[in-house]
Amino acid sequence: MSSIGAGSRKPVHVTVTGAAGQIGYALLFRIASGQLLGPDQPIVLRMLEIEPAMKALEGVAMELDDCAFPLLHDMVLTSKTEEAFDGANWALLVGSVPRKAGMERGDLLSVNGGIFGPQGKAIAARAAGDVRILVVGNPCNTNCYIARSNAPEIPAERWFAMTRLDENRAKIQLAKKAKVPVSVVSNLAIWGNHSATQYPDARNARIAGMGVFDVITDHGWLKKEFIKDVQTRGAKVIEARGLSSAASAANAVIDSVKSIRTATPWGDWHSLAVVSRGEYGVPEWLQFGFPVRSDGSIWEVVPGLQHDDDAKERIRITTEELLQERDLVKELVPS
Ligand code: NAD
Ligand code: LMR
Repeated sequence: MSSIGAGSRKPVHVTVTGAAGQIGYALLFRIASGQLLGPDQPIVLRMLEIEPAMKALEGVAMELDDCAFPLLHDMVLTSKTEEAFDGANWALLVGSVPRKAGMERGDLLSVNGGIFGPQGKAIAARAAGDVRILVVGNPCNTNCYIARSNAPEIPAERWFAMTRLDENRAKIQLAKKAKVPVSVVSNLAIWGNHSATQYPDARNARIAGMGVFDVITDHGWLKKEFIKDVQTRGAKVIEARGLSSAASAANAVIDSVKSIRTATPWGDWHSLAVVSRGEYGVPEWLQFGFPVRSDGSIWEVVPGLQHDDDAKERIRITTEELLQERDLVKELVPS
């Protein structure tokens, strides 16, 4: 493709795995239109699929072409893992099998876990020096842990697993209950695993700058139904749609990347599962959902949040689940 008219900025290479799947379909067009990296940033989309889905991927690429997105500089369609990650600046690891009704996300480990070791190795071998990786495929914390552990050359801080959909789900539940616009709900952390044990933390969240427990007086709801609703929202979507969340998941991918690469508004934080360095007593090296703030290039786990006994117990349970998942994938991780 000629570079005439493509702008003077160097294109950023964004790899999307599972690009012909339902999240891929909801995500690629938003990336190509500039919603991921901004309205001036040309993009090369590198799309990975398994061989049987390559024809469907060609159809997706035709549609991307037919949008005539000015920022879409080029596309690479491939079933070869190394080629997909060649020169990637961002790697969005979506490709994997979603759960069906009645399953927990952890039940997918045996089928999906094996995808992520080889992808971690390929990223280490072929991606750009500044690559950052967001794992979406479930169970995303442990899949990210597998991929990261297979890529020791890449700093552990470049790896993220997606808990942002849970943050967004929690915020809208609080906004509806308090009858306020969702834009005034802030400081919502999801602690731990993207699973039914996650802890959506209303105690430290804020509504228009005030404590959630001061604004919402139904504390019974905050302590029980709210938490359960967020924990089980993915299953409810599957029950209703017959398919797992896709557009909201793609939206959360956009939100996650934005909150890594742009400065977090002062005093706020967002939810990302990042490598534990022992913060809040979480065992090191787990990929753990924490409140995270970024200055646009460096991020940190927000320190100093207080937890009551109920929160501590919930964080213990979700930590325990991640330790169990880690034990289950021992053979997928170099010792
Ligand atoms: P989907 O089945 O519609 O699409 C997945 C795609 O991945 C398919 O096209 C498939 O061919 C491809 N694929 C499978 N194995 C692959 C491999 N080894 N390499 C490359 N591609 C491969 O599923 P979906 O609805 O797009 O969901 C994808 C994943 O995202 C699932 O694991 C789902 O549970 C997870 N998910 C996570 C979140 C989150 O918040 N973290 C939210 C929604 C969905
Ligand atoms: C979600 O939270 O919607 C996804 O993780 C899909 C699922 O299996 O629930």
